[in-house]
Amino acid sequence: MSKALGYKAFGEADVQTFFERPDPVPGPAEVLIRVEAAGVNPLDHKLRSGHAPALNGHLPFPQVLGMEAAGTVLAVGDDVTGLAVGDRVTGFALTGAGTYAETTVLLGTSTARIPDALPATWAATIPVAGTTALDVLDQLDLPAGSSLLVNGIGGGVGIALAQVALDRGLVVTGTASTAKRELVTSTGATFVDYTEGDVVERLRAHAPDGFDAVVDNVGGDSLRALAPLGKKLVSVGDPSVAELGGAFVERRLDRAGLERVAELMVAGKLDPHITQTYPLDRADEALALVESLHAKGKLVIDLGL
Ligand SMILES: NC(=O)c1ccc[n+]([C@@H]2O[C@H](COP(=O)([O-])OP(=O)(O)OC[C@H]3O[C@@H](n4cnc5c(N)ncnc54)[C@H](OP(=O)(O)O)[C@@H]3O)[C@@H](O)[C@H]2O)c1
Repeated sequence: MSKALGYKAFGEADVQTFFERPDPVPGPAEVLIRVEAAGVNPLDHKLRSGHAPALNGHLPFPQVLGMEAAGTVLAVGDDVTGLAVGDRVTGFALTGAGTYAETTVLLGTSTARIPDALPATWAATIPVAGTTALDVLDQLDLPAGSSLLVNGIGGGVGIALAQVALDRGLVVTGTASTAKRELVTSTGATFVDYTEGDVVERLRAHAPDGFDAVVDNVGGDSLRALAPLGKKLVSVGDPSVAELGGAFVERRLDRAGLERVAELMVAGKLDPHITQTYPLDRADEALALVESLHAKGKLVIDLGL
């Protein structure tokens, strides 16, 4: 049996509950891992709230929170290649199986071994924030020297995106609230405080010809306000970007992407900026902070193994 944080019905945070479950049994394409660390993401509360029924509406309860984890392989399904018991890995969990747990199952093709030098807490941020940053930048395919505006640069995806973009020679500007100034400028990106006055006016003053591309991590009215500033436009969180002439990020979720992000981390080119870690029995606090929509950098559940 192992401890997990999940929910037995869709709803707000009060449906969350800790419980014991038998270790999940990996299917032919899956691996069972002992979780060392799990990333905390907005999709976790969206799934719990029932806001993404296409992903988990058909799954039985209880469902466990969390999409991404790093840990050690305990068992390997027959069809999985390139992974063995005892490997340290990071990857995407099956929806509903969750990662806010002592053990879980990951998808074999969406799981990669990690270098010994990489702490599990960092590795746990690779699947969601890390590979989203790569996918966005590969999709935009901008030459070095291009200007990039990142809307919502101070969260998990934004702060990873800023660093990978700067490493590719892009000139990066990002919007965030006042408390994130130091974090954002520490990456080398230009910080624009969206809480002070008309942010579109200030961005236009900063870049009169607009930006070669805008990446949106915020969505809604904020996306609509900033969309005209970019020659290219991609959103990671709001599919209605298509109505504005932009594109939703195309996710690959493959092993190669995980390995590329791990290499960037080991090379010192990408720091996930984990601003706080939480033990498993306080995972609900971590998710509450992300659900406030104003988390700073990345939050990680550290099982301290
Ligand atoms: N499609 C995919 O595969 C995929 C993958 C990853 C994430 N996502 C989505 O992408 C979005 C961002 O994810 P994340 O992990 O970066 O979330 P996060 O770590 O929770 O960060 C969200 C950030 O948004 C900022 N923010 C909120 N309102 C803002 C505004 N009006 N202008 C500028 N910044 C604002 C917040 O900073 P302030 O406190 O400064 O406001 C916060 O740092 C979420 O919707 C998530 O579901 C999608």
